[in-house]
Amino acid sequence: MRSLSGDLLLQRLGDQPADKLHKRLYNAIRTSILDGSLPPSSRLPASRDLAQELSVSRNTVLTVYEQLLAEGYVLSRQGSGTFVAETVPDSYLSTTSQPMSERGEQRRVELSKRGATLLHHASASPKQWGAFIPGVPDVNAFPHQIFSKIQARISRRPAPQRLTYSNQGGSPELQHALVDYLRVARSVRCSPEQILITEGIHQAIDLVTRMLCNPGDNAWIEEPGYWGIRNILRINDVNICPCEVDEAGMVPAEQNAGAPRVIFVTPSHQYPLGSVMSLARRQRLLALARHAGSWIVEDDYDSEFRFSGQPIPALQGLEADAPVIYIGTFSKTLYPALRLGYMVLPKPLMNEFKIAHAELYRGGHLLIQAALAQFIQEGHYTAHIRRMRLLYAKRRAFLTALIEQHLGKQALSEFNSNAGLHLILNLPNDTDDVAIASAASARGVLVRALSRYYMQPSARRGLLMGFACVPEEQMAAAFSVLLECIHSQKS
Ligand SMILES: Cc1ncc(COP(=O)(O)O)c(C=O)c1O
Repeated sequence: MRSLSGDLLLQRLGDQPADKLHKRLYNAIRTSILDGSLPPSSRLPASRDLAQELSVSRNTVLTVYEQLLAEGYVLSRQGSGTFVAETVPDSYLSTTSQPMSERGEQRRVELSKRGATLLHHASASPKQWGAFIPGVPDVNAFPHQIFSKIQARISRRPAPQRLTYSNQGGSPELQHALVDYLRVARSVRCSPEQILITEGIHQAIDLVTRMLCNPGDNAWIEEPGYWGIRNILRINDVNICPCEVDEAGMVPAEQNAGAPRVIFVTPSHQYPLGSVMSLARRQRLLALARHAGSWIVEDDYDSEFRFSGQPIPALQGLEADAPVIYIGTFSKTLYPALRLGYMVLPKPLMNEFKIAHAELYRGGHLLIQAALAQFIQEGHYTAHIRRMRLLYAKRRAFLTALIEQHLGKQALSEFNSNAGLHLILNLPNDTDDVAIASAASARGVLVRALSRYYMQPSARRGLLMGFACVPEEQMAAAFSVLLECIHSQKS
């Protein structure tokens, strides 16, 4: 019986123009990797099996596998086979690279410098669900019935204003609901006009960068930090200044490195290490921003989930008229595919940003925003968060117990606060955390390598492990697969 990838490659081999057999097979596999038919981390058939399925010699398959390995399209793991690499090699993105076939049968796409840079550094994973995907809430626990009832009610006879473009910063009902919610839950000070509804934090970062940064401007980011910011800064030619993180949060860079135009921080729960920014550090950052004329972008992505102690108030509310753009999301409290988030804009920026948002993205989804406003106002939102807080706290405790039992207390990062949707599992500094993550992914367990969150090579090693979306009864089995991957890396 032929395998699925065997079938695919047989068909692709037939599509190749006449050429030497090994070149045709190389092109068939490479094209399948590049167009995603053979996705990252998927296992290629064993050379013997593929040779049999395609009726070619095993040496032909081995030659092609070696070529793909040398070029970085595939990885070979002793004893477990050949896997498609997570990241496409640079050669594909370079306009000067030559494909193996001289016939040029595929149209080569000339991307802009910006487009090529974006793809070269692309890191979003195609896999978004399963143990231990970091940062994803338990989407099954969302109260779909309640929400769809509200949506049905609102959609019965919608006013035309809810069916046209949004250029007032989003649904007024949601802006009002958020003002109340953010004041109580996050100590954020604002009025409804300051709220701009976005399609998530990621879009807010894009908007901030385009509106505030010129090429060559400095932007401070946390090191390690949220990788999604880096690509946006890169394609806008902003000078990225990584600032170290310690137990009190971001350590501001030396001022002689040049004043920052924007400072991206996660003060309530540093991403990904988990430290909380101290009051002294917050005050220093605010003073520095006022002095240098910088804008602080406070990414408050998952602060609703603290499992012990007091909630940490937002930096935005610490001082009146602080130079802080506060950005939040429903991706962690509800579900990521909702694609809804919000910005709380300082007054001097609010009109300009709303116009720019409408120009760039043409906002919409006003019915769903109005439904969400009712969902918040009727108390379902805070009730859901309360339920999820209890659920995730239990799951976190279960995972930390597993880690302590099998790897010892030192495997838990010292910055891990009892909060959020993920934790960091420490690994010794000579470990290849990327290889562990990709071996685990090939076996269906999703973790992310901590070293990937650093821009500079002096990276700590570890794994980001999400616990929020993993029921306790699935954790032990997934964890034992991960342990095998960790131990086989060590040996
Ligand atoms: C620190 C941080 N900021 C922002 C985001 C993106 O949020 P959104 O889904 O609202 O774009 C994420 C997503 O994982 C994140 O971890």
